[in-house]
Amino acid sequence: MVFRRTSLVLGGLLLASSAAAVEDIPALGLGTWLSDRDSVPHAVEFGLKHGYDHIDAAWIYRNEDQTGKGIAAAGLPRSDIWVTSKLWNNAHRADEAHAAIHETLSRLGLAQLDLYLIHWPVAFDPANSDSRHPTLDTETSLVDTWRTLEDLVRANLTRHIGLSNFAKRDVETILHVCEICPYAHEFETHPYLQQQEFVDWHLNEAGIKVIAYSPFGNTNPIYKGHENLPPLLKDSLWVGLAEKKGATPAQVVLAWGLQRGTIVIPKSTSDEHLLENVAAQKITFTDEELELIAKHDKKARFSNPSKQWGVQLFADLDDHIEVDVVVDEL
Ligand SMILES: NC(=O)c1ccc[n+]([C@@H]2O[C@H](COP(=O)([O-])OP(=O)(O)OC[C@H]3O[C@@H](n4cnc5c(N)ncnc54)[C@H](OP(=O)(O)O)[C@@H]3O)[C@@H](O)[C@H]2O)c1
Repeated sequence: MVFRRTSLVLGGLLLASSAAAVEDIPALGLGTWLSDRDSVPHAVEFGLKHGYDHIDAAWIYRNEDQTGKGIAAAGLPRSDIWVTSKLWNNAHRADEAHAAIHETLSRLGLAQLDLYLIHWPVAFDPANSDSRHPTLDTETSLVDTWRTLEDLVRANLTRHIGLSNFAKRDVETILHVCEICPYAHEFETHPYLQQQEFVDWHLNEAGIKVIAYSPFGNTNPIYKGHENLPPLLKDSLWVGLAEKKGATPAQVVLAWGLQRGTIVIPKSTSDEHLLENVAAQKITFTDEELELIAKHDKKARFSNPSKQWGVQLFADLDDHIEVDVVVDEL
């Protein structure tokens, strides 16, 4: 993937790209959550010019306009880039969702997304959608929201639709009713939260691609909890594997995610890290190494707003959190 893009330039005019258009989601993408507004245009442009062809954005990251500047500055044909964005919890109702995708497209400077995800299986009442103390919208079900997303595909606003942060039972609900079925499910998974069964179920039974977010586990500085665990990139297993393969811990962690069939979307705004991460695609592991890594799972989830929102997320998955208020119908 890294150097597959070549263009024919005649008299200063970009005539054609000889690379095949990006039909399917590329295995490595660039995350943009917490990428500060000033840095993100350069990071996106630099990434797109150095081997990335997949950007993971979201309305709630509040930097889609800056991400769009980076996409425009890279100057690549639209068909050479994969762009994902996500519907925030305050816009699950049909009219709000239509407005939200138009806003996202306008900020990103695009006519169509490649993938649009329901960011969380939780609908907020748009009248009180403060993420710290939202009022839940119990009238709009996940099935209603899925129907709305199907309409966005029919309206050519996105090529594919998918899920994010869903429990297995909620994925199954959507699979039972979908006319246009989920293309991908983006959720937290990394060496400290491997969820191998859940990953395998998507890939082998449900026919849904898995996008692994926070691939570096507790490296994201916003994550708290599980203070007993070392930073993933300083964990002795990963430092040892990196030395053995003449790579960095970040590279081996990403390579493991890729080898098990997930799509990894590391965030970075550092040129050095961007180059380091894209080079991870060359590293492979033996079966023995994979077995050792599997034993190192900590079932440690870092992204879990269950208590904050009063919803029991991840109910049937590893390391869910019990909450006082449980809303069954979302
Ligand atoms: N769907 C969802 O609900 C959801 C939730 C969370 C995340 N996501 C998506 O997934 C993306 C990635 O997850 P994340 O941002 O939580 O965390 P992450 O990508 O696992 O980690 C990001 C952190 O790692 C650092 N980093 C990057 N490359 C490195 C390297 N080679 N060596 C050392 N440190 C490195 C970054 O700093 P520098 O910038 O300084 O390199 C940043 O502090 C997000 O940006 C977002 O697009 C989605």
